[in-house]
Amino acid sequence: MSESHDSGDEFTPEQYDEASATYEEYQMCLSYIVEQGPIERDDIVVDIGTGTGNLALELAPMCELVLARDIDDEWLQYAQEKAAEKGVENVSFDHGSFRDPNVDEDVDVVVTSYAFHTVYHEDGEEELRAAIEGISSLNPRYLVVADRMFFGPPESQEVGDRFPRMGTVSNLLTDAGFTLTTVEPVSGSDGVLVATRTTQ
Ligand SMILES: C[S@@+](CC[C@H](N)C(=O)[O-])C[C@H]1O[C@@H](n2cnc3c(N)ncnc32)[C@H](O)[C@@H]1O
Repeated sequence: MSESHDSGDEFTPEQYDEASATYEEYQMCLSYIVEQGPIERDDIVVDIGTGTGNLALELAPMCELVLARDIDDEWLQYAQEKAAEKGVENVSFDHGSFRDPNVDEDVDVVVTSYAFHTVYHEDGEEELRAAIEGISSLNPRYLVVADRMFFGPPESQEVGDRFPRMGTVSNLLTDAGFTLTTVEPVSGSDGVLVATRTTQ
């Protein structure tokens, strides 16, 4: 378990990237999305809670455009500089939240990695519901979630309060008009969910 991915707020963007590089389960989740995710060449993809832009920059070569959104301007600035250093031109970084993603374009896929659990931990299940409803308002074909969540029983109540259960996320997705099509655990508390849109 990596503390950097439990509470990204306590890290600078540089420290976060350093920790991410050796967090095996995190890397497995991102690789799963890149290798087996539902993203097509002409898709417009939104990455909410983009942080240092790790997933956005991985997906950029695979699609038309990535709209990367975050509520933290310092992390957005860092991610934008990283994209420029790598010569990536089809990622557009801007302020935006789950509730108000700040996206006007027609969206094909929404991805979010290691951001839902911070919403759950800090503000609880109802805020996670509002986050998923915010994503739903973009009407994407697919929603892909990579995150910390319990795929089995948590080892203690204290630990159980830190991340949502997979079943909780699944129920919230269903309530917001999605159908869960893929559940890919990479550990007992890290994994990827893919959901398709069932209602408009
Ligand atoms: C742990 S970082 C993960 C960043 C990145 N997606 C990754 O996989 O490395 C979580 C990010 O979610 C952002 N975040 C937290 N709450 C958010 C919200 N309500 N809307 C948008 N972004 C949010 C934070 O600012 C932070 O950059």
